[in-house]
Amino acid sequence: MLHGRHILLIVSGSVAAFKALMLVRLLRAEGARVRAVLTAGGARFVTRESLAALTGEPVQDDLWAPRGGEEAEIGHIRLARWADAVVVAPASANRLAQMAHGLAHDLAGCILLATCAPVLVAPAMNPAMWAHPATRANIATLAERGLHFIGPEDGPMAEPESGPGRLSEPEAIAYAIRTLLGSGPLSGRHALVTSGPTHEPIDPVRYIANRSSGKQGHAIAAALAALGARVTLVSGPVALPDPPGVVVRRVETARDMLAACEASLPADIAILAAAVADWRVAQEAAQKLKKQPGAAAPTLSMALNPDILATLSRHAQRPRLVIGFAAETEHVVQHAREKLARKGCDWIIANDVSGDVMGGAENAVHLVTADAVEEWPRMLKEDVATRLAARVAEHFA
Ligand code: C5P
Repeated sequence: MLHGRHILLIVSGSVAAFKALMLVRLLRAEGARVRAVLTAGGARFVTRESLAALTGEPVQDDLWAPRGGEEAEIGHIRLARWADAVVVAPASANRLAQMAHGLAHDLAGCILLATCAPVLVAPAMNPAMWAHPATRANIATLAERGLHFIGPEDGPMAEPESGPGRLSEPEAIAYAIRTLLGSGPLSGRHALVTSGPTHEPIDPVRYIANRSSGKQGHAIAAALAALGARVTLVSGPVALPDPPGVVVRRVETARDMLAACEASLPADIAILAAAVADWRVAQEAAQKLKKQPGAAAPTLSMALNPDILATLSRHAQRPRLVIGFAAETEHVVQHAREKLARKGCDWIIANDVSGDVMGGAENAVHLVTADAVEEWPRMLKEDVATRLAARVAEHFA
């Protein structure tokens, strides 16, 4: 949360400047005060009126006539001191060049020279401009001076081309600001989250899987990151975007998932929401199994997969809080209690998956600990995630 923090947002000239408006909304929703400085280029893409309405503050755009009342003070110095963090989003190629050279011909340039606050830069430009040696050199100079960067992302641009140059999404920039300011009850904590199904190969083209969508696990990763945790998400194959600000390790099989989890230790928190396959095919065929005319269907012999939750619960580098999930179709709480003891974890989130939970938007869960059972009402998976992250933060408080 950014409650009461002062963010000075410099909006320079890029077609992506509209995302700065969304960023303002996110920051204010977290309780931050945001003041915007609009450069001449930025004003070609968003209006001062939009920024003023969304920030609820006068927008600064003129070095010689800073708005906002206190004219006796020098505007750029006052703004530079006011900021807990200065964010340049979007940062155009031209703005990066000006910053690298310390040019101070406009209000944004003066603030960037005058501020002692950390500076986060979110570049946005055409991929060729991003790749140009001049831009590369400017970035290297600014990074050496201790400025922080987020993006740009790889993807489709406003022009009919694609490549690195897209402004990072507002959620990712907000996350980077939170990290920069070290805010949030879980800042300084490392959380490991598993999500999605695993795929257990039969042969090079076939596999055994389950209906897990990864929605719950991904939402948990996002919710922990929103509270300031550094999050590693080990995900089986899913059709979901990476949660902003989270390090994602993609795996296929249960054995790969265990290896990725162990490689991610140490962690303070482990929340294992993945629907890991209990069994794999004992012998994966090296070549595609062929259907022979008249021959019987093949028999698959299965082997037991490692139990990641049980392994991490008894690991030499055991996270302080280990939370498992229990997807059941009957006797939900009773099975969860048994699982808690058997697997050695601290809490179990138990849910009934006999309905439309797997792949669906909502979840109805019980939080089962060694000495209590809490029944949570049916809610969106994102809300389950937010509530669980808040409980984790309470536990560490
Ligand atoms: O035993 P069961 O599959 O019901 O346990 C569910 C919990 O155990 C979940 O948290 C799941 O992520 C975890 N699990 C695991 N490795 C397995 C099987 C389940 O980590 N091989």
